[in-house]
Amino acid sequence: MEKFYTTTAIDYVNGAPHIGHAYEKILTDVIYRHFSQRCDNAYFLTGTDEHGIKIQKTSAQNGISPQEFCDMNAQKFKDAWRALDINYSQFIRTTDEQHERIVQKIFKKLVDKGDIYKHSYTGLYCSGCEAFLSEKDLTEDGLCPDHLKKPEVVKEENYFFKLTKYKDAIIKHIKTHPDFIVPSFRVNEVLNQLENIEDISVSRVKSNVSWGVPVENDPEQVIYVWIDALSNYITAIGYDPENPNDGSEKFRTLWPADVQVIGKDILKFHSIYWPAILMALDLPLPKHILAHGWITIDEAKMSKSLGNVISPTGVLEAFELSIPDPFRYYMASAAPCGKDGNYSDEDFKEKVNAHLANSMGNLLNRTLSMLVKYFDGDIKPEFLGKNELTAQALETVKAVKHHFDYFEVQEASQKIIELVDITNKYVTDNAPWTLAKEGNTEKCGIVLTNVLQVMTVIASLIYPYCPNIAGEMAKQLSYDITTKLDDITCDTLRAGHLINKEDIKPVFLRVDSELAEKKK
Ligand code: ME8
Ligand code: MG
Repeated sequence: MEKFYTTTAIDYVNGAPHIGHAYEKILTDVIYRHFSQRCDNAYFLTGTDEHGIKIQKTSAQNGISPQEFCDMNAQKFKDAWRALDINYSQFIRTTDEQHERIVQKIFKKLVDKGDIYKHSYTGLYCSGCEAFLSEKDLTEDGLCPDHLKKPEVVKEENYFFKLTKYKDAIIKHIKTHPDFIVPSFRVNEVLNQLENIEDISVSRVKSNVSWGVPVENDPEQVIYVWIDALSNYITAIGYDPENPNDGSEKFRTLWPADVQVIGKDILKFHSIYWPAILMALDLPLPKHILAHGWITIDEAKMSKSLGNVISPTGVLEAFELSIPDPFRYYMASAAPCGKDGNYSDEDFKEKVNAHLANSMGNLLNRTLSMLVKYFDGDIKPEFLGKNELTAQALETVKAVKHHFDYFEVQEASQKIIELVDITNKYVTDNAPWTLAKEGNTEKCGIVLTNVLQVMTVIASLIYPYCPNIAGEMAKQLSYDITTKLDDITCDTLRAGHLINKEDIKPVFLRVDSELAEKKK
């Protein structure tokens, strides 16, 4: 694998990040970190979507300029991602000057090509969606089904994009690339939507929407927020429509994206509008669009009116977590690929205590302690080379890679925990403490060494989910956590002194249920 380019949706900055936003960024970060273990040039883009009527209105309500409002809220997203160890390569804001300039050029290229034309129009605009809806999209009461708000009747002369011109090509692409839309159970939904598409309005009159990128040579028109937003995936990495080579070296290396991670509510924009724009620009399409599901709180939809919006840093604080790993692990394994998932304090605590503390952390701690107790922390040459567990660990590496090839992040985590369970069972079955008592020293040493060899593999596999815990495990095992997955052999531990008693530390302490209760 030469390179791996992944992106997230860019979040609207009309509020602070919640755990639905965090879910997507964690999922993408885990995918990014996994593929960083498989290639040298992995790149991860995220950012914020800052234009449009919703932000214009919210900033006005707050009595500050839209730019100040965006600056303030974009910072909240950056702070949250730092707290969660989201290791993005780049953070784009659609108010970045460079982005705005290229968006204007993209628009101009499509006008010059005849794919964008001017047209008078009356439509129903939902500011929640930042999109025109058709009558048949609405509920019986005439409301937007997602935002339960009445769309605004808008009568304007706008620019239109010839989406219909690309309809057949997009249908063909989806049918000939069955893994373009992940998971595949969403393909039919997109094909059905494609049946009914029309050309789309891609600008708004400045007097109605002032907070946006003006159309070059027609400053009374502002470029539609979705054209602006979708373009971020290429403007960020140096696309330039006026450059005969399509832009920078970086762009040519990274594009097309390997996977673009988004929520299911914006799949239409990414599997219909976005491919059409790329086709109009003569650019290749991303390899995969991963549409994840929805995160609910205690099985209810998260919403300001229900008062159940949870902030990701709020969870870290409530449980007094010094590292984000347990939250990352919990969120990344919250739902099967593409399905909805749920957050609850109780389930969070139970799952991370069971998997990370009781199963994985204890396994390492017990084994290292026995190595110190029985062998002064030394691995003797005769303990090596008889790895009954190795085959299983290497099988797990293969299985995990296979799941990630399909972006099955939860499914991959289950394989890792399965390996932990198998290893725990191996310890129980072989009872090294009994072997030691019976004077069967060599067998005892072999069992402990086998377990520790497998723990290096577990450290590598859990790293994308729990980078801090994995780093601590690797430290105690003197293992190089930057080992590429293809180089894993499960025999990296060598004969010699491994660890002293005082250097053995629990890699993860159980989270306390009472803490979160008290905070409430
Ligand atoms: O849609 N569970 O921004 P956004 C899971 N700016 N994912 C959720 C979620 C939840 N409860 N709530 C939101 C936008 N998301 C546009 C994107 S991309 C060129 C422009 C996800 O702030 C949502 O599905 O409304 C989307 O992928 C992301 O968070 C940002 O949502
Ligand atoms: Mg949204």
